Amino acid sequence: MGRIPDDKIQEVRDRTDIVEVVSGYLPLKRSGANHLGLCPFHQEKTPSFNVNAARQIFHCFGCGVGGNVFTFLMRMDGISFPDAVKRLAEKAGVEVVEDASSPEDLKRRALREQLFQINHAACDFYHHILMNGTEGSPGRRYLRRRGYAGQTVQAFQVGFAPEEWERLARHLDSQGFQSEAVLQTGLCRHGKQGRGHYDLFRNRLLFPIHDAQGRCIAFGGRVLDDSLPKYINSPESPIYHKSETLYGLYQAKDAMRQLGQVFVVEGYFDVLALNRAGFANSVATCGTALTNDHARLLKRFADKVSLVFDEDDAGQKATYRAMDALLPAGLSVEVVRLPAGADPDALLQRQEEATLQDCLDNARPVLEVFMEEQLEAFGPTVEGRVKAADEVLSRLRKLPNELERSLYVKTLAERTGLDEALLLDKTSGRSRPVNVRPSGLRPGHSDVPPSRQRTAVERAQTFLLGMMLQEPTVRQIVRDEGLEKAFPGRFHAEVAEQILSSEHADGSLPDDLVSPALSENAQALLARLMLDQTISWAENQEQLIKDCLQTIRDEELRRRYRDLPDLIRAAEEDSDWVTHAALLREYQGIKKGFER
Ligand code: UTP
Ligand code: MN
Repeated sequence: MGRIPDDKIQEVRDRTDIVEVVSGYLPLKRSGANHLGLCPFHQEKTPSFNVNAARQIFHCFGCGVGGNVFTFLMRMDGISFPDAVKRLAEKAGVEVVEDASSPEDLKRRALREQLFQINHAACDFYHHILMNGTEGSPGRRYLRRRGYAGQTVQAFQVGFAPEEWERLARHLDSQGFQSEAVLQTGLCRHGKQGRGHYDLFRNRLLFPIHDAQGRCIAFGGRVLDDSLPKYINSPESPIYHKSETLYGLYQAKDAMRQLGQVFVVEGYFDVLALNRAGFANSVATCGTALTNDHARLLKRFADKVSLVFDEDDAGQKATYRAMDALLPAGLSVEVVRLPAGADPDALLQRQEEATLQDCLDNARPVLEVFMEEQLEAFGPTVEGRVKAADEVLSRLRKLPNELERSLYVKTLAERTGLDEALLLDKTSGRSRPVNVRPSGLRPGHSDVPPSRQRTAVERAQTFLLGMMLQEPTVRQIVRDEGLEKAFPGRFHAEVAEQILSSEHADGSLPDDLVSPALSENAQALLARLMLDQTISWAENQEQLIKDCLQTIRDEELRRRYRDLPDLIRAAEEDSDWVTHAALLREYQGIKKGFER
C-alpha cells in the first residue's frame, strides 16, 4: 500500500475537530478547558475521559489511554492508521492520494473492493432467504430446534443456502458482478465442460464472517444433518486470511473494550450461544489454532482472554497452543473448564446457565493449569520435576511483565521444590542473550505502560517530563544529563525525545506534540502530561529536579549492580578476560559505594 504524504495527514488533522469526532461515539460535557465523558475503553461510573479541543488530544485518567484523533479512531474501531486518516479525510473533504501507488497497487485495491461487495451481496441474499422465503424454511426449522431465533440470528446475519446449484451464481450475475471476481471469493466455482458456475454452499446454514470493521469477508456453512463434512468454509482470498480473522469480533468489540475481557471459543455456534446468554464479548477462530496475529487483534480490544474450549484432547491441545500465542502479546490468559464432552452451545441448550456461570467463576490462570499438568506428566522424581520446570520456564521467559514472571517463578519453586533463585536466573539473565536490546531501551519497569507506573523512578521521570513541557531550562538540564541517563524508561525516553526534537528555535513547543508516529504508550503518557494541569511549581525547583535525577541515577546503579553478575558470568563463558576484569572492577566499585 502507498504512503499517505505527511502534509495530507497534517491537513486532515487541521480540518478535523476531535471533540466532534469523539462526540459521535459518546456524549461529552464541557468542563473547564476540557470536554468530559465516560471512557469507552474501560467501564466506569464517573467520567474520567478528557478531550481537549485546543490541543486536539484525549486522555483517560482512569485507564491511561490517550492520543490524538487518529489514535482514537484506531482504538475505537480497530482500524489501521492509514484507514483512520482516510476516514477523517473523507469527512473533512480532503482528497488523499497515496504516494507511489503503482498500477498494480490500484488494481489490487479495486479487486479487494469488489470482493467485499460480492461477499456483502451474498450475505444479504442468504440472510434474506433464511428470514423470508419458503426456500429458507429448512434453515429456520434447524435454528429453531437448536433454540436460536430473532435477535441473535439478526445480529450475526445468519443465512441459508438452498438446495440448488446456481442460486447465488445467478443472483450475483444479475447484479452485474464480474465473474472473475466472484470466482475469487470462492462462493462460486467453475462448472465442468462449458457449464456455468455453480455455488459452493448448498443446503447449508451460513455464518457470515466479518472483519473488525464489519465487512463480510467469508462464510462458514454447516450441514443440517450428520453428513460430512460438517462445515465447509470460504477459501482464503485477497480479503480473507483465517489466521488473522476472528468470528464474531465485529459484534463483540464494544463489549470487549468495555469489559476488557474476551471469551475465545471453538465454534460458530458457541459464539451464538454465549451471545444469546448475554456474553457479547465472545469470538471464535475459524477452524484454526490461535496465531500471533489473532493475539494482536484481541489485544486491540481486551487485556484478558478466557479460553472456553471443548473439554476433550483437541481442546486441551488448542488451549496450550493458544497460551503460546497469547502470553507473549502481554495478554492475561485464563482457562474455563467445562463439564466433560460439553461445549458452550451444548451446555446452554440444556439451559445450564448456572453451570456455565460456575465454570466461568472457577476459571484459572492458564500457566497455573499448565504447570500442574506438566508436573503430573513428568512425575515426582527430581528429573521429572526439572523437566516440568523447564517446560514452564520456556513459557515464563516469554511473559513481557517482569513482576508476573517473578510471581510465577515463586509458585514454580514451591511446587517443584527447586531453588527459586536458580529458577529466576533461568527466566532472565544468562539464558537470554545479553546486549541484544535495541539501543537506549532497558528492561524492567521501563516496559510497564505509563498508566500503571508506581515506583519512585517512574514518578521521577514523569515529573521531569511534565516540567520539560513547561520550562525550556529543564529541557536544557535534561540535554546536559543525557537523554538515556535521565530516562531509562522506554516510553518516558520516547516522550522526552519527542519534546526535545520538537522544540522551536525560540524555545517554544508546538501544539501537536502527540504524534501518531509515537508508540501507543508514549502517546498516552504525553497526552496525560499535556492535559494534567496539576503540576505546579514548587519554590525550589532546582532542588526538585536534582532530586528527580538522583532518584533515577540511584535506581539505574542498583539495576546495573543486579545485572553485573550475569554479565560477568557471560564474559567468563566467552573467556573474554579483558571485559571480565572491567566488569568485576565495576561491580566492586558499586558495591563499595553502597557500603559507604
Ligand atoms: P465443532 O465440530 O466443535 O462444531 O467444530 P461446533 O461449532 O460445535 O458445531 P455444532 O455445535 O456441532 O453445530 C468447531 C469449529 O471448527 C470448525 C468450525 O469453525 C467449527 O465451528 N470446523 C469444524 C470446520 O471448519 N470444519 C469442520 O468440518 C468441522
Ligand atoms: Mn457445538
